[in-house]
This record gives sequence, structure tokens and C-alpha cells, in this order.
Amino acid sequence: MTKEKILVTSALPYANGPIHLGHLSGAYLPADIYVRYKRLKGDDIIYICGSDEHGVPITISADKENVSPHVIIDRYHEMNYEAFKKFGMSFDNYSRTSLPVHHATAKEFFLEFHNHGLLKEKKTFQFYDKKAKMFLPDRYVEGTCPNCGFEEARSDECENCSAQYEPQELKNPKSKITGETPVLKETSHWFFPLGEFQPRLEKYINEMNEKYGWKENVLQYCRGWFKEGLKDRAVTRDLDWGVKVPLDNAEGKVLYVWFEAVLGYISSTKEYSEKIGDPDLWKKYWQDPDTKYIAFIGKDNVVFHCIVFPAMLMAWNDGDKEKYCLPQNVPANEFLNFEGKKFSKSRNWGIDAIDFLKIFPADPLRYTLAANLPETRDADFHWKEFQARNNNELADIIGNFVNRTFTFVHKHFEGKVPEKGNLETIDIEMIKTISEYPKKISGYFERFKIKDGVNEIMNLARTGNKYFNDSEPWNTIKTDKTKCGTTINICLQTIYTLAELFEPVIPFSSEKIFKMLNAEKTTWDKCGEENLAEGHKLAKAEILFPKIEDKIIEQQIAKLGSGETEKNKDNLITYDDFMKTELKVAEVVAAEKIKKSKKLLKLSVKLGNEVRQVVAGIAQSYEPEEMIGKKVVIVANLQPAKLMGEKSNGMILAVEKDDGKLQVVTVNNSIKNGIRVK
Ligand code: 2FM
Ligand code: ZN
Repeated sequence: MTKEKILVTSALPYANGPIHLGHLSGAYLPADIYVRYKRLKGDDIIYICGSDEHGVPITISADKENVSPHVIIDRYHEMNYEAFKKFGMSFDNYSRTSLPVHHATAKEFFLEFHNHGLLKEKKTFQFYDKKAKMFLPDRYVEGTCPNCGFEEARSDECENCSAQYEPQELKNPKSKITGETPVLKETSHWFFPLGEFQPRLEKYINEMNEKYGWKENVLQYCRGWFKEGLKDRAVTRDLDWGVKVPLDNAEGKVLYVWFEAVLGYISSTKEYSEKIGDPDLWKKYWQDPDTKYIAFIGKDNVVFHCIVFPAMLMAWNDGDKEKYCLPQNVPANEFLNFEGKKFSKSRNWGIDAIDFLKIFPADPLRYTLAANLPETRDADFHWKEFQARNNNELADIIGNFVNRTFTFVHKHFEGKVPEKGNLETIDIEMIKTISEYPKKISGYFERFKIKDGVNEIMNLARTGNKYFNDSEPWNTIKTDKTKCGTTINICLQTIYTLAELFEPVIPFSSEKIFKMLNAEKTTWDKCGEENLAEGHKLAKAEILFPKIEDKIIEQQIAKLGSGETEKNKDNLITYDDFMKTELKVAEVVAAEKIKKSKKLLKLSVKLGNEVRQVVAGIAQSYEPEEMIGKKVVIVANLQPAKLMGEKSNGMILAVEKDDGKLQVVTVNNSIKNGIRVK
């Protein structure tokens, strides 16, 4: 079969926050599985990604922290790149859109369009926030809809009644950045005539779909956009942060982030070519009509990858320069939810990739996500499912199959691949099954049915276990050693095939299995053949997938929504630290106000036989007589202090309520005073 030349890109994540599991299962893991699979097929493939480092949210984060946007992008670029590496992403290049090569590429495209008279300059009125000193993008203005009165309408359309209007018609507009009332200020922008490209875009998508079978969800989104009718799109913004508009009369303007981010794929490939000392290599992929270009994204990016980017490439190709290839397929995924709800940073719902990978190895996560990818509809990640996929599938199916086979071979066959004897039907069938698997799985992966392919590979491990059971080597070792050798030989060949077929999914474990087999990978198409020679010496077995205990999973579930993340674990104290604080139950026996203090009450409290004086800042929440008889909790070993001239020997625990008043922590009256709280 002829080898394919393939260019694969995954959406460039914003360097404005950590990536979470939803991102991984949308645009990254499926792409990585596909790329690793194609590499094993021996195709000529390059896999490109990088950080998307422009856009308003980055400037807002920077303002909030009072730092330069560079601090934000450096932080998240490093963090996300680190997470990707730990997760086993095999990008050939992971670039950044803040690099000069990207700015130059984006400017080149803009100028090409401008010089050919494609871009139209138009004057518009836009909301301006005087306090933030910036023009406000639509999603940063909120007001009352002039049509239905909905109070959270955007500056140009209403989510409630779908009305579209001019920004000046919005009532009571407010800046979402400062809360101030913005003013309308005239500005001018360059517009890309997207509408003019609609007929060609429809034709392009139909053709690609006919030839390569696009996913139904992606086609639906595109049809929706076409039905609404494509309109001119402004490709510039009034901002400081971004790629400067390369024209003389464009002070304070940058290219719209989406206009340049998609070009980041090209500039990342250019950066890679420079790095490896072959500066023109990028052209071999981007400018060869034979290239198969596959763009992996999440569903929120469909319009930019199936409509805006192809239109930009068509516009470029209309000129007289070298032509670019358009995506041949855009296998966008739907979203992954977390325990039934959307990922949410503010509600602490979900887990960032980097935090996950601090606790668990990558492969169980890769396998769990891959076996349940949101390919046709939204999917859900559940901690318990993650545990079950690891314990009941990875450990109990493949782990067990590998382990029992290796135990046998080391115990009875001196750690060498046994010779095969006469083959019986059961053996012939197993050999046939293995040999058919590479093609079978290719059938799924080629059509981007990654989830089905992964689940099918696990079925081979199930079949391997069944073959082992049905062949009963524990009996044949006693009755017919040659027959037993045949079984074990075929089990080892199956393990080899599994190690290779699973390489794209669980690469770290696959590598361990190859090490145990003391063998190298072959090509995908050959991995179902007999790859281990009789007599070949194997290495020691090791545990592939340690089981995950309930306790660990329960800890993770308990953290959800609680505000506790892996990061603030740095604040954790030890049990011994905690035990240094002596908390005791104390009964209030007397209470009075302290003259000249609005806040303090002087209390006498009893701890067993001891009576001591404690001054507490609760006078605005309790009258003295209300306190008498209460069994409160005090820190009993706090150093004594003097407050408003009164000695205080301990501190009462209290919580602040929503109205700002304090409520002292009390225990049931049946508890004896003086008892320690721990
Ligand atoms: O949705 C996102 O995270 C965008 N930063 C994706 C950009 S993909 C491409 F345009 F670079
Ligand atoms: Zn409305």
C-alpha cells in the first residue's frame, strides 16, 4: 500500500488556564491515538500543536493580577505543555502564537488579502469602557434587550428572544469588566468577506464528505451556519495585545485572535522545520496537494475550522503564491462532562489534567477517556468508572492475561518462548483472530471511530484470556507439555499483538510489555503475525496496572465542589500539627460587657474543675445573658493575652454567618465540660 503524507493538528489551547480532562478527550487524545497509529502504519506524518496566546481573556487575566500578559501566557504555556507531556501526547512540535514566526505568518496572510483588495474597511460604533480604557468585545457588554426586556442580553443579540440589533439599541448597557456604563465610540475595522465564500465552502464540504465521510455532528453545525447565511467578519480589534495590524493607519489595532490562531498551525510547522534544520520542510506538508490534512478540534471550534480557516486558505489560493491544502477532515468531538455536570473552575467541578497526573499515571486515564470518547454525543467522566476501567479492564483483563502467561513461561519453560506442536482447531482459530486484528482496528481508526477501535482491542485481550482458560495449560503441563507449549506460545504472540495495537492508546504500558517481551515493535500491518521466535528469551514480568483503591477514589469525589484542589494541598498540616491545638469543651458560667468596648465580652468558663477568664469578640452578636450555660469550644492552650486591660486565657471558636454576625460553636449539653475536641 502506498504511504500517505499526513498533517495532523490539534486545536491550540488558550494559554489562559490549565487544560482539564474535557480538553484531553475532545481534541488531543483522539488525535494522539490517530497519529501514533499512523506512525505504526509507516505513514509520513507530522503532528502539530501549540498555545493560543492572544485574545481578550488573556489581557483581562493579566489586568486582574496586575501583571503583563507575558506572565500569564508563560505560566499556562509551561503548565499545559508539561501536562501534555505527562499525558503522553506525541506532538512533533508544540509552539506558541506569541513567537515572531507566527506574527510574521499572520501578517503575511493579512497583507496578502489586503493587497488583493479582499478586505473591506468599515466604520462601526462600538462600546468603549473608559475605566478599562478599552473597546469591549460583544461578550463583555450586558444590558436589557430592546425587544423582550431580557436583562442579560449581549451588545448585539439576545440569547432569550434571538433578536439581533445595533449596539446603540441595547438598554442600560454595562461593561462586564468594570461594571461601568460604556460609551459608544467610532472605530474602523477590516472585514473578511466570508459571505462571498459560502457557495465554495458548501461545495468543498460536500466534496470532502462524499470522498472522506465527515462526521454527522460536524456536518450539522456547518449546515446550520450556511442556513443562517455567512456574513462579513471583522478580522481586526482595538487592543494592544496580539498581532499588530501591519498597516500605517492601524495604530492600537491587532488581528482578531481567531483570524491568526488558525494560522498558528502553519507557523508551528515552520518553527519545527527551523528547529530540525530543514527550513522548507513545512511546505512539504502544507503546500503539497497530496497531503491529507486532518484537524482535530472540539465542537465549539467547528465554525473556525470548517468555514473561516478554509475560506482564508481559499482566499490565499486565489492569489498567485504557492497554494495551501485545506482540511480533508475535521473530526470534531462533542464535550465531556464531569460527574454529570459541565467542568467549572469557579465551582471546583472537574479536575485539571496536571493535577490528575500528579496522582495517577497517564495510561489508565488515556484508556478511560478513549473508551468513552464524546464522538457522537456528549460523554461523562465518572471517578468510579475510571477506577473500574483500571481495576476491572486494564488490570483484570490485559494485566491478568500478561501476568498469567509470563508466570507460566518462567515457571515451566525457562523464560523462553516455547515451541509449538501440532495445532488444534482452538489454536488455529486464535492465530486467525490475532492475524485479523490489525486490519479490523484500522477500519475503526481510519474512520475516526477511535472509541470503538479501543474497545475492540480490549476484546482481543478478553479472547486471549478465554483461549488460555479453554486450553487449560495448568492441566496440559502435566499431561502433554508440547500442547501446553503451543498454548503459551500463542498467548505470547497475542500479547505481542496487544502491545502493538494498544501502543497508540496506552503507550507507557505498551513500552513496558515490549520490554518484558524483550522485543521491538514491528509495523502495524505485521503485528498480528508470529513475531516471537521459538526459543526467544523473555525478560522479567512486572505489574502493569496496580489496582486503585476505593479510598483514593472517595477522596477525589469528596473534593468536588469543595474548593480543595491538588494545589492548595501545600497548606495541609499533619495530624501531629493538628494535635498541638488543644480544643476543649467549656461551659460559660458568667458573662459581662467590657466597658469602652463594643465588641468584647468577658466570660468565665469552666473546664472540669478549672474556671478561667476568656475575652471574646462576640458582643455584637450575643447579649451576655444569652451566653450563660452554653457549652462552647475553646482553644485551651493559646498563650494568655490582655485585651482592653482584661486577661484572656483561651479563645472561643465561632463562625461568621451571612449577615456578618458570629455564632459560637457549641456542643450538646450532655457533653461534660473540660473534654478535649479532636
Ligand atoms: O478553543 C480554544 O481553546 C482555541 N484557543 C482554539 C484555537 S484552535 C486554532 F485556531 F488555533
Ligand atoms: Zn430579547
